[in-house]
Amino acid sequence: MTRRKAKIIGTGSYLPEKVLTNQDLEKIVDTSDEWIVTRTGMKERRIAKDDEFTSHMGAKAALEALANANMTPDQIDFILVATLTPDYAFPSTACLIQSSIGAKKAAGADVQAACTGFLYLLSMAKSFVESGLYKNVLIIAAEKLSAITNYKDRSTCILFGDGAAACVISSEGKGLVVENIQLGADGDQADLIIMPAGGSRKPATLESVASCEHYIKMAGNEVFKHAVRRMEAACKDCLEGAGLTEKEISWLIPHQANMRIIDAIAKRFEHLPQERIFKTVQKYGNTSASSVGIALDELLRRGPLQPGEKILLTAFGAGLTWGAGILGAE
Ligand code: UT7
Repeated sequence: MTRRKAKIIGTGSYLPEKVLTNQDLEKIVDTSDEWIVTRTGMKERRIAKDDEFTSHMGAKAALEALANANMTPDQIDFILVATLTPDYAFPSTACLIQSSIGAKKAAGADVQAACTGFLYLLSMAKSFVESGLYKNVLIIAAEKLSAITNYKDRSTCILFGDGAAACVISSEGKGLVVENIQLGADGDQADLIIMPAGGSRKPATLESVASCEHYIKMAGNEVFKHAVRRMEAACKDCLEGAGLTEKEISWLIPHQANMRIIDAIAKRFEHLPQERIFKTVQKYGNTSASSVGIALDELLRRGPLQPGEKILLTAFGAGLTWGAGILGAE
């Protein structure tokens, strides 16, 4: 019997309309377009409306992925959502999206792996589908980072944007085979990127609000070094695990955290030309879990890949968490 393959048979993404430019940020904090572009490569990012939430963005991306896969919501068996900005601590954002898109037969759950969320979901969906436990899995990464960004902290507020991405993973139909996924985590470094309050360790109090503990806090410099090292190692492990070399990769889609991080990783791949490294960081900033999925959807909408072409994905984020994955066009 041939082994069941997990394939991405449809993708979708959603970016809110409102654009926050570097010039807008110059009016809010002590920063400059020149500093932001030089240090991050970012020019603008998208910001959700006050009444537009993570589940709304996730549902829009999901419906687009379903349409792209020629499927209806009632064909989905499981919905997995990656987010660090859920609508509520509970119920899960997966359940809210299940209701809004009418995926009546689907079970649903949220996964929290920060910026590596999309790759964690791909790995879970791959094993669900390959094992035969579920036939059609909808994975959604969605973030309203503007809700947990401190617009008085210039070291973080310039970085983050809102948006969502989704994929339908199935064993049937033509698509991108999820060939190999390599994941990692290091909870010893949990303090490097953290939202200190709002969980059971530090529930909201007047003091926690006054001291801005409900916002993202990040040791930028430290995180930068880990990001480059971990994503490079994850990519190399993943290639080795799949029995591939970098020469066989058509596209690298890295987490869109910072253009300098992307460039530093690119330098470590001598056979991957610059134009084969897919970037959206300049226009959407860092959208955490959604970033790799948004870039993947954008790449695929440019035109179909040729059979045999491979895409290498990599991400890194709070936890710490990291990972890499290989997709192969049929
Ligand atoms: O998605 C999860 C993973 N996240 C990441 O991978 C992010 C990793 N980190 C980074 O991307 C970078 O560390 C940042 C973009 C956050 C910061 O860049 P940096 O080159 O590491 O700057 P820095 O933190 O070393 O700060 C350099 C200087 C400081 O001033 P002094 O102390 O040298 O006088 C900062 O106060 O730049 C200052 N600074 C700013 N100046 C103008 C920090 N933020 C700003 C700003 N505008 N927005």
